Amino acid sequence: MNKDTFLELLQRKKQEIDEALPAKIEGIDAHSGLKEAMLYSILAGGKRLRPILFFRTIEALGKDSQPYMDIGCAIEMIHTYSLIHDDLPAMDDDDFRRGNLTNHKVYGEALAILAGDGLLTFAFQTIADSKTIESNVKVDLISKLATAAGPEGMIDGQAADLDAEDKKIAIDELEQIHRNKTGALLGFSIYGGAKVAGGSQQQLVHLTHFANHLGLAFQIQDDILDIEGDEGIIGKPVGSDQQNKKSTYPQLLTLEGAKKKLSQEVDNAKEHLYKAGIDHTWLVSFTDYMVSRDH
Ligand code: IPE
Ligand code: IPE
Ligand code: MG
Ligand code: MG
Ligand code: MG
Repeated sequence: MNKDTFLELLQRKKQEIDEALPAKIEGIDAHSGLKEAMLYSILAGGKRLRPILFFRTIEALGKDSQPYMDIGCAIEMIHTYSLIHDDLPAMDDDDFRRGNLTNHKVYGEALAILAGDGLLTFAFQTIADSKTIESNVKVDLISKLATAAGPEGMIDGQAADLDAEDKKIAIDELEQIHRNKTGALLGFSIYGGAKVAGGSQQQLVHLTHFANHLGLAFQIQDDILDIEGDEGIIGKPVGSDQQNKKSTYPQLLTLEGAKKKLSQEVDNAKEHLYKAGIDHTWLVSFTDYMVSRDH
């Protein structure tokens, strides 16, 4: 796909999310300090990759994504909460995120924890209250999102990631950590899109494989960027993993080995997109974009 067309479509979706998401937080009837802390991280400028994937998966299946803005916003709320908590002193202890001071550096640890809690719970409130989705679909989305974000998904990955600090673990254990801490929410973004668009069983199978490979590729690239990324571009500190003695792909496979694994995962991800029987062109370009360095 032509690069300008790809970027224009990407930018347009991102803008729609950037407008809708803060409006939802503004509308919350909460203590003003809490709302300010929640808005701070929401407005700090994430790439919005997960809701974009959700919306474009719907469109790749030939449906209009407009009615599902509530779900897209909920996914980004959960992602943002996970970053606020991930940066806390008790976890990765990072000072910068999205090019700004981390939430706890501005609001203190207590309010940062609560801002994360608020975003997590409000995400589910937002889906439950959504007027544009049939109840049976809503219940399935809530169940799958809770599984992806909770103790059988992202939280399990985060706990295992902490447990693997300062240890030599096997590559399949590391793969499991990455799949849970990062792959699960990306996987829901794609599953949720296919579900609301009424994708066939066959399409869901291929899109699930696509999501698994993409999720792993994305976290491998994140590990690589922690070594050779540009702080000005990635908006967070380089060297955090080494400082925390994290188990990462470059640490286990060397930088070269990690890059090779990344490119295999990207190829496998695209292979499933080609087989899914959907309008795959934009998602193929997006796969390359997700693991590129210039954003
Ligand atoms: C960062 O995710 C955390 C990981 C799971 C690797 P993103 O790179 O999507 O972060 P933002 O939302 O753009 O800040
Ligand atoms: C974070 O992984 C994953 C989640 C927040 C669930 P990392 O700790 O590697 O993410 P960054 O590098 O801080 O963005
Ligand atoms: Mg972490
Ligand atoms: Mg971190
Ligand atoms: Mg990282």
